Amino acid sequence: MADQKLELHQGDITQLTVDAIVNAANSELRPGGGVCGAIHRAAGPELAEACRQVGGCPTGEARITPGFSLPSAHVIHAVGPVWQGGSQGEDEALANCYRNSLRLADENGLDSIAFPAISTGIFGFPADRAAEIAVSSVQRELRARERPTRVIFCVFDADTAAVYQDLLPSGSTQ
Ligand code: APR
Repeated sequence: MADQKLELHQGDITQLTVDAIVNAANSELRPGGGVCGAIHRAAGPELAEACRQVGGCPTGEARITPGFSLPSAHVIHAVGPVWQGGSQGEDEALANCYRNSLRLADENGLDSIAFPAISTGIFGFPADRAAEIAVSSVQRELRARERPTRVIFCVFDADTAAVYQDLLPSGSTQ
C-alpha cells in the first residue's frame, strides 16, 4: 500500500542519506536562500555548475543532478509556485512538483526520496494547504508506481511537523 511508504522527519534535509533529496528551487536553478541555499552549500560548487548545464526549469517541473558532497546521491530540483492568493493555479503547480519529482525518481531507478515543504518559505504558500497537497499528490502518484518505495517528508519546524502528523496515516511516521 502506498501509505506504508510515507515517513515524516523533522530536521535538515541536507543530512539525509537517501537516493534523492528534493530542492525547493527557482526557475533559473540558481543557488538561493532557504533550503536551496543549504543544499548548495552542503553539495559544494559542483552543484551550481551542474545546474548551469541543465539550464532552467519551469514552475511545476523538476530536473535531476548528482548530489556531489551531499550524503544523498542525487538532487531533484523542483520549482514550486510563488503564492499569489491561491487563484493563479498555485495548487496544481505545487502538486505537479511532487508528481514530477516522483516520476523522475522512478525513471532513474531511485528507491528513496525526501521532500522539503516546497513553496512554504520564501514563496509564501500557506503551510497547511501546501501539506495537504503534498501528501495527497504523493499518495496518488505512488499508487501508479512501484518506485520510490520510501518517501520522506522532511520539515524544518515543529508546527509544520504537527500538520503532517495529522495528515499521514498512523504507523507511517517516524
Ligand atoms: N531542511 C529542510 N527544510 C528546510 C531547510 C532545510 N535545511 N531550510 C529551510 N527549510 C524549509 C523552510 O522552513 C520551508 O518550510 O523549507 C521550506 C521551503 O522554504 P524555502 O527554502 O524558502 O523554499 P520556497 O518557499 O519554495 O522558495 C523557493 O527560495 O531559496 C530560494 O532558490 C529558492 O528562489 C527559490 C525560493
